[in-house]
Amino acid sequence: MTSDPRIEARGLQRKFGEEVAVKGLDLQVAAGEIYGLVGPDGAGKTTTLRMLAGLLDPTAGRVRVLGEDPFAAASKVRELLGYMPQQYSLYGDLSVDENMAFFRELFCLDRKAFKERRQRLLAMTRLEPFGKRRADALSGGMYKKLALACALLHEPKVLLLDEPTNGVDPVSRREFWDLLHDFLAEGMAIILATPYMDEAARCHRAGLLYAGRLLEEGRPTEMLRAFQHPVYRVHGDRTRVTSYIEKSDDVMAFTPAGAVLRIVVKRGREAGALSQLKALGAEAVPTAPSFEDLFLARVHEEATA
Ligand SMILES: Nc1ncnc2c1ncn2[C@@H]1O[C@H](COP(=O)(O)OP(=O)(O)OP(=O)(O)O)[C@@H](O)[C@H]1O
Ligand SMILES: [Mg+2]
Repeated sequence: MTSDPRIEARGLQRKFGEEVAVKGLDLQVAAGEIYGLVGPDGAGKTTTLRMLAGLLDPTAGRVRVLGEDPFAAASKVRELLGYMPQQYSLYGDLSVDENMAFFRELFCLDRKAFKERRQRLLAMTRLEPFGKRRADALSGGMYKKLALACALLHEPKVLLLDEPTNGVDPVSRREFWDLLHDFLAEGMAIILATPYMDEAARCHRAGLLYAGRLLEEGRPTEMLRAFQHPVYRVHGDRTRVTSYIEKSDDVMAFTPAGAVLRIVVKRGREAGALSQLKALGAEAVPTAPSFEDLFLARVHEEATA
């Protein structure tokens, strides 16, 4: 990791009353790097991003964005940081053009810079033909792209994206990622919160967030390579296999995948699990682990620790 991270959190914690939503989180993101914060509903993703953006003060720990405390130096950091919230960040009854003009004023951009960037962002997002359309009347994917364009208008060095592709079709999702790669190539540092495992697997590094804690962090390919538990695709009677799996101590996680079930078996327990499945008339074929298998197994380990 670089000695000069763009985003840094140390022992970051946030309580809401008695509930601890984020429990001592450490992370660093370098220029040109995209970090995926992956976790289920309520894991603490939005709370973490809001603290990194300086919108919420941590209960404990510290945050630095380009060396500054985003909560204490809010106006300074705001110029360096783009934040795309999970929920509506645009004015629904304003048009695409009007929303962009609003962000221009927010960031006090001069006319020339605004015109150039606006043109570039509209071209990149392919929103040029929709300038007069109200944000509320855009499709889900177009709305997300407009929100991204608005968050990028002031050319931030750090970008925080909260579930940016949720509800977006696969083609727009792809375009969205192409856009992110353009900005990464220019040296931007990005954190992307997502519930989608495949999306996290596309990041340079990913952290598995569960109940406010990072269970594991690393390069997705290396995390998969180091994963120790065998994974199988199981063909057989779904009801019988599922009822065995739910009772079994040998199986850490399972996911339906079309007509088959993927299962993660605890390392060293393969023989027992395979003979049980055979007795049920099911066939288990070894397969490579996916990021989702890894995440579910880690959550299982955490829950049964
Ligand atoms: N303003 C708040 N007041 C009280 N509790 C909160 C507040 N914001 C978040 N929480 C709680 O903190 C926990 C983490 O919530 P957070 O929104 O950070 O999760 P998330 O990972 O973003 O979930 P999702 O995927 O559903 O967006 C949840 O239990 C939530 O209820
Ligand atoms: Mg959230």
